[in-house]
Amino acid sequence: MQAMLREAKAGLAKLLADRTGLEKERALQLFETPRRPEMGDLAFPCFDLGKAQKSSPAKIAGDLARDLDLSGTLFSRAEPNGPYLNFFLDLPVFSGKLLRKIFLEKNQYGAADSGKGKTVVIDYSSPNIAKPFHIGHLRSTIIGESLARIYQFLGYLPIRINHLGDWGTQFGMVLSAWSKDRNEDELKRQPIGYLLQLYINYNKQASENPAYQEEARGWFKKLEAGDPETYQLWERFRNLSLEEFKKVYGRLGIEFDYYWGESFYNDKMGPALDQLRDARLLETGEDNVEMVRVAEDLPPVLLRKSDGATLYATRDLAAAIYRFEKFEPEEILYVVGRPQELHFRQLFLLLKKMGYPWTDRLHHIKFGHIQGLSTRKGAVVFLEQVLDEAKDRAREKIAENIQAGKLSPGVDQDQLAEQIGISALLVNDFKNRRERDLSFDWDQVLNFDGETGPYLQYTHARIFGILRKAGKPPGPEVDFNFLSEPETRELLKKLSLFPEIVQLARREYEPFIICNYLFELTGAFNQFYNHHRVLGSGDSEAPRLLLVDSTREVLARGLTLLGVKPLERM
Ligand code: ARG
Repeated sequence: MQAMLREAKAGLAKLLADRTGLEKERALQLFETPRRPEMGDLAFPCFDLGKAQKSSPAKIAGDLARDLDLSGTLFSRAEPNGPYLNFFLDLPVFSGKLLRKIFLEKNQYGAADSGKGKTVVIDYSSPNIAKPFHIGHLRSTIIGESLARIYQFLGYLPIRINHLGDWGTQFGMVLSAWSKDRNEDELKRQPIGYLLQLYINYNKQASENPAYQEEARGWFKKLEAGDPETYQLWERFRNLSLEEFKKVYGRLGIEFDYYWGESFYNDKMGPALDQLRDARLLETGEDNVEMVRVAEDLPPVLLRKSDGATLYATRDLAAAIYRFEKFEPEEILYVVGRPQELHFRQLFLLLKKMGYPWTDRLHHIKFGHIQGLSTRKGAVVFLEQVLDEAKDRAREKIAENIQAGKLSPGVDQDQLAEQIGISALLVNDFKNRRERDLSFDWDQVLNFDGETGPYLQYTHARIFGILRKAGKPPGPEVDFNFLSEPETRELLKKLSLFPEIVQLARREYEPFIICNYLFELTGAFNQFYNHHRVLGSGDSEAPRLLLVDSTREVLARGLTLLGVKPLERM
């Protein structure tokens, strides 16, 4: 399914190629967007042709404008403008085709089947149990989920994997702390917080008392050796934490296919290490550590400590191999912050050295840092706190907006605050390319008039309101000649771009591209709506309603792809 403007462009390119002998591909590349809308919808510079035909570009533009037969294209006329040939869309034809298409395809407008039969593994969120939460986990959760939705929309089968940090020496400390002093009630009440507290306190004690360190190591050894009682306790810690994580994911509308955390690979690292040994890639370093040198200019990858314990990298090694054997994915995306850049470079090179042919399908989807995200209670420690704070602040903003007469008080305040809070967080994340560092400011994030989640939701709800008031469903049997004004034209063109935008967002792993497009779309819609009434506009009403409904469809789809649930009322 191709975007309409692109299709139209391709048609023109062929026409120009047939007429002038220029390569069709070259013609396609040359097209530009005119500087101002009055100058047409597509501009074709004639410099190349001028050179080839040893004639002036302006003369060529003039000749072509006269000679080209545009019948059967989506363009009604061509005008020369200096060395450029400007094309004007045949608006009734264009809008008829476009709006009928959106009307028929509904929430599948922009979808594709280019990913049919292909699987993509997306490794995201992946917080750690009994270790502090990083803002990176929030970003990973948000970006990873959006990418999964975008892939799914394009026909791929996304496999959502949460690579939970559920193994490692921190469990030695937690287990040891628990053996000395336990609080069952606290564990049940808030497992994540309680386990973290155990870890932090123990860490402090261990730094003063080496015996504590020794004991923690002993506990982790017991765990790694599979001692049943220790293992059961660990499993309990893990399950309780997981339940709490799942509650937060539920609020965000996220469901993972697998919680294959680091512990999942316990029995899968041995074979991978054997393979490295057989290939003579594994070196023994000082203190008997085992490692692999993957590149001259990079530090070696440590895979086994002197006491035989495995590491983060060892588990990622086993995980990559396992995932490929299990799913044969087209790609594996690791949605993890930039600080782990070295880790992933090493990992990918290591796999390449082992001779796996699929290493170019591994991608580290890195992102920048968020500065300044804190709550009124202080620094953020858990994912849930961020959502709660967003909700509280959204509630206040909503109350302000009701006072100002912008929102109606009839809507369920609690639900609305929850959804507005989440939309604000998500959109704030997608406002920039993911690799940019961000500074966080609650007032900006929740501003109803800025480029924010609340603003996009507000526009969506407003459109819904217009359609509700119309009292009858929009239909495609309308006179498209009534869609002619400049603002209407711009909105139509924006709508036609959506399919291309989704493809581009996938190619660049950038939900930002969709988010940015939604700001342009809502901008174009507001321009249109400020200039033209819809209800009660006589012959224009039916076609305009169809246009408004199409805008709603695309805006809702875009929001959904970002992980935002579009609101019908505010
Ligand atoms: N738990 C890790 C951390 O918090 C992130 C895991 C990312 N995924 C992976 N396969 N390494 O840093």
